[in-house]
Amino acid sequence: MRVYKFDEIDSTNKFLKEKLDLEERDLAIAKVQTAGRGRRGNKWISSEGSALFSFCLKHDNSIKEEEYMKLSLVVGYSLLKTMQRIEPQDYKFKWTNDIYLNDRKLSGILIEKIGDYYIIGVGININNCNFGEANDVAISLKNKTGKTYDIEEIIKHVVNSFFKDFFKFKAGNWQEILNEINNVNYLYGKRIDIVGVTKEETGIAGDILLDGRLEVFIGTEIKKYNIGEIHISKK
Ligand code: BTN
Repeated sequence: MRVYKFDEIDSTNKFLKEKLDLEERDLAIAKVQTAGRGRRGNKWISSEGSALFSFCLKHDNSIKEEEYMKLSLVVGYSLLKTMQRIEPQDYKFKWTNDIYLNDRKLSGILIEKIGDYYIIGVGININNCNFGEANDVAISLKNKTGKTYDIEEIIKHVVNSFFKDFFKFKAGNWQEILNEINNVNYLYGKRIDIVGVTKEETGIAGDILLDGRLEVFIGTEIKKYNIGEIHISKK
């Protein structure tokens, strides 16, 4: 594993995306990001005390393309399990890959593809305690427990566990992973607004399905939404 450490960088995802000689498990870690990126073009608050890192996973041609649709769920699952080991808490998994604690967002994942590599970017609120305009919706581990953690240690745990969990996934353990995330499915039973390309709908979220889609009860209908197809605007 090659590790690139920065006191400050624009974005660890961007750093790996622009690197010409990528290798599987390359890992970029930053103390601060000046242009941290979230999903759907959002900004990711990247102040000191957060775990801010990205690592590479090489595309494996023996895995069917549709299996990679589940990658974000597998990364989220792995992060959830690792956090449960490091600091046992009542974490929830918010489809597709956020971790929630006390109804607030603890971590986010941004996966991008460049050539043969998936760049898996992870932000976890660990020792940082102030989120400015996001104070009502974000939480850190320190906010919850009052403890201070070794961020690099946590990052290494997360990356090593992910490769073990991805191996399990490749070996056919998807059902077990799915059961675990459904057991702590944050959206289950909640009224959600689904913002698609053309229209907005409101429904009650159900389970995460075998193919990774989320089932939503809208009136008398059951709809299934793909990862990336929709945006859930509120709980
Ligand atoms: C989300 O919107 O929930 C995803 C946030 C992902 C943030 C991480 S921080 C490390 C890596 N570098 C980035 O610019 N983004 C990801």
